[in-house]
Amino acid sequence: MEIKKVGVVGCGLMGAGITQVCAQSGYQVVVSEINDELLNKGRALINSVLTRGVDKGRLSQQDKDATLSRIKGTTDTKDFSDCDLMVEAAIESMDLKKKIFAELDKICPKHTILASNTSCLSIIDMAMVTSRPDKVLGLHFFNPVPVMGLVEIVRTITTSDETLATSKTFSQSLGKAIVIAQDTPGFIVNRLFIPYELNAIRMLEAGIASREDIDTGMKLGMNHPMGPLTLLDFVGLDTVFFIANAMYEEFRDPQYAPPPLLRKMVTAGWLGRKSGKGFYEYK
Ligand code: CAA
Repeated sequence: MEIKKVGVVGCGLMGAGITQVCAQSGYQVVVSEINDELLNKGRALINSVLTRGVDKGRLSQQDKDATLSRIKGTTDTKDFSDCDLMVEAAIESMDLKKKIFAELDKICPKHTILASNTSCLSIIDMAMVTSRPDKVLGLHFFNPVPVMGLVEIVRTITTSDETLATSKTFSQSLGKAIVIAQDTPGFIVNRLFIPYELNAIRMLEAGIASREDIDTGMKLGMNHPMGPLTLLDFVGLDTVFFIANAMYEEFRDPQYAPPPLLRKMVTAGWLGRKSGKGFYEYK
C-alpha cells in the first residue's frame, strides 16, 4: 500500500517532530491537538526548527515554505478521514490511547494503518480496541525527531506482514534507519536505556561520584553525546519515571524500579529542562 497522507495525533515535542519529518519527506500531514493554543505552540516549534535549518543553510526558504504548506493543523479528528497512516503521539496514558485508537478506527478508512509512538506501553492493548488489529503497530521515534536517525518498529502478535512491510518502507522514506522489536515493555532501546539511566541516579545517590563526573565519564569515556544525568534532564524525569514504573510493573525486575531520588525529584516538580530544574538548572 502507498502512503500519501499521514495523520499525527498530538503536536507536542514528539508529534511536532514527526509532523515535520513527514512533511519534509513530501507527505501531506494532518496534525491534531486538543485546543488551538497547543496547536499553535506545536506549529511554532516546527517553524522555528525549519527557520534554523534555513539560517544554517541546510534548507532553502522554498523547501521550508513547501514543508509548511503540506501541514494542516486541526482540533477536529474528523480531518483524519482520508489519512493512510496515523501516528498517535499523545501523552503516555493507556486509557487515553485506547480512546484515541477506538476513535481513529471509526474515522479512518479500512486500509489505514494505526501506529503508536509510545515508548513503553503495550501495543496489543491498543490494537484490540480496534476492528483492525492486523493494521496496528508501534512506530517509536526518538527526541529530537528531526535529528535522531532511528524508528523502532514494534510488531504485535496480530500485526500483519503487509502492515509491517508498509511501515518499514514509510519509516525509511523519512530517512530513518529501522529496527524491529517485539511488543514488550521498552522494546529494544528503552529496555537497555532505562536501567542505564536508573543506575546513573543510583550512583549519584550512593555518593560514588558527582553529577558532573558521572556525565563526563560517560560522555568522554564512551563517546555519548550527553552524559546520563544531562540526558535525563533532556528526556524529562517524569517521562523516565513513567517508563521505569511501567517496565517494573510488567517485569517485576528490580533493575527497572525507580530509585527514591527520581521519585522525590518528580514529586518536587524537578522534571529537567522543561521545568528549568532537574539534575542541573536551566535558564
Ligand atoms: N529539533 C531539531 N534539530 C535540533 C534539535 C531539535 N529539537 N535540537 C538540536 N537540533 C540540531 C541542531 O539544529 C544542531 O544542528 P546544527 O548545528 O546544524 O544547527 C544539531 O542538532 C546539534 O545541536 P546543538 O549544537 O544545539 O547541540 P548538541 O551538539 O549538543 O546536540 C543533541 C544536541 C542532538 C540533542 C545531542 O546532544 C544528542 O544527540 N543528544 C542525545 C539525544 C538522545 O539520546 N535522544 C534520545 C532520547 S530517548 C528517546 O527519545 C526515547 C524515549 O522513549 C525516552
